Amino acid sequence: MVKNGAVHGIAPFHFGLLPQATPKVALDPAGRDRNPVARKHRERKMTAFSDAAAEDYDRRIARMAPGYDLALELVVALAHCCFPANARVLLAGSGTCAELLALAAAGPGWRFTAVEPSAAMMAMAREKVAAAGLGDRVTLVEAMLDDAPLVEHDAALCALVMHFVPDGAKPGFLAALATRLRPGAPLLLTEFADVGLPEGCYEGWLLDRGVEPALVARAADWRRRVWRPTTPEQGRDLAARAGFTDFRNFFQALGFQGWLGFRAGAPSN
Ligand SMILES: C[S@@+](CC[C@H](N)C(=O)[O-])C[C@H]1O[C@@H](n2cnc3c(N)ncnc32)[C@H](O)[C@@H]1O
Repeated sequence: MVKNGAVHGIAPFHFGLLPQATPKVALDPAGRDRNPVARKHRERKMTAFSDAAAEDYDRRIARMAPGYDLALELVVALAHCCFPANARVLLAGSGTCAELLALAAAGPGWRFTAVEPSAAMMAMAREKVAAAGLGDRVTLVEAMLDDAPLVEHDAALCALVMHFVPDGAKPGFLAALATRLRPGAPLLLTEFADVGLPEGCYEGWLLDRGVEPALVARAADWRRRVWRPTTPEQGRDLAARAGFTDFRNFFQALGFQGWLGFRAGAPSN
């Protein structure tokens, strides 16, 4: 496993549904963090999940993303259509690797690079990958996407990450995806977007389906403070500027959206 740097105990951008104590940070004489990875995260206000956000993630996300299971099924179906049989697949912000397990079962020839900066999410992913006996098909990279090795992949999936990336960092994040894909390679992307629905309808849906009111309140607070969703038009524009083409929508449930696009340029066969 490549391990560029861990974010253990560091919550530069307070992130999670549960409160997490602000850790003590060692400073150099100029008053900067000594830990270069933590410093980079802090400077970029990046969004690696804290230990608290990782806790119980798999169960929570399936309840809180509308149509989560269907979206994952559709991702797998589209991957079947678009990914080459022996594809090297990049998973950007792979979290606990739920999507990796679903894809690995569907495409026995696919190998994966799973990039995830949160040590806690990565620890769960490592256990799941080992339990599924997938170790020889998976490279786990504990890093922000733009710190991951510059290896060209044949396809990519970026699930539920973009709405956490700060506005100013979105172009760089998408460019980091594009530079790790060969021309013509497909990109599947899911995110929460700003689709102009009435305020509160997402929280109303959560309450209607029995999610505890305290959790819904925390989710609403998190959404307002932390999420940085784009409109679909802005998302398409950002993707085009980063070098993606033919972006089209394959899924929408409330603001949860799925996109398929391609790295611009002719494939070199
Ligand atoms: C909501 S989780 C999604 C996890 C998984 N893809 C899924 O669908 O369940 C978002 C993940 O993106 C990761 N993340 C945030 N910023 C990132 C970045 N710049 N590069 C790579 N991963 C990032 C977070 O640490 C977190 O684990």
